[in-house]
Amino acid sequence: MNLLALHKRIERNSGLLIFGILVVSSIGGLVQIVPSIFQDSLSTPAEQLAPYTPLQLLGRDVYIRESCSSCHSQQIRPLLAEVRRYGPYSRAEEFVYDRPFLWGSKRTGPDLHRIGGKYTDDWHRVHMRNPRDVVPESIMPAYPWLAQSAADRDGSITRRLGALQRLGHPYSDEEIAAAPGAVDGKTELDALIAYLQSLGRTRTREEGL
Ligand code: HEC
Repeated sequence: MNLLALHKRIERNSGLLIFGILVVSSIGGLVQIVPSIFQDSLSTPAEQLAPYTPLQLLGRDVYIRESCSSCHSQQIRPLLAEVRRYGPYSRAEEFVYDRPFLWGSKRTGPDLHRIGGKYTDDWHRVHMRNPRDVVPESIMPAYPWLAQSAADRDGSITRRLGALQRLGHPYSDEEIAAAPGAVDGKTELDALIAYLQSLGRTRTREEGL
């Protein structure tokens, strides 16, 4: 059978077409996935990288819920312009405790991977309540309600940490037992700021490449 006839047959038979698509796309997937399984540097945490504290973890969930990643990426590419603007480019070893990854692909606002330590907590407090108060031309939405709601509204912090512990994150049972006390009285805004301040700390913005 010549190629043209085979092509015609595949195009007219949706089962065969779906099968062909699956074969071709899984080759692409395997080429990317299989080598990464054997590459230790992708799953070994960076030297100073610590798992998220309970408060940071709750802040991360606020970040996910509010869909901050629809406007902000968390991945600095190894390009001169990006490194000059945001700091050292992102490496796989810095994301070992990220489940799910929040790399994002849209940059309506700036990349946030090395936002940790760039501003004070108070700056973030004002900025999240109304971005225009610190950056007059900002188009970022305001999030005033975060200061009003408790960080661990549904009391799920021990279960969240337990799930991560089962997946291999190095939380001790004592740390998990102490978590509700650690987040007690904190607001979602406190949690979000704690999370933002923890980002990208394994390298400093000034370090260059
Ligand atoms: C509609 C798009 C949009 C969304 C959604 C959004 N932002 Fe922004 N963000 C921006 C823009 C634009 C800027 C730049 C102007 C400014 O600083 O306000 C920015 C700036 C920032 C900065 C300062 C960055 C820097 O280096 O100066 C932080 C921190 C930030 N956003 C956090 C967040 C968080 C946290 C959320 C989710 C709760 C969020 N943003 C949601 C658009 C957005």
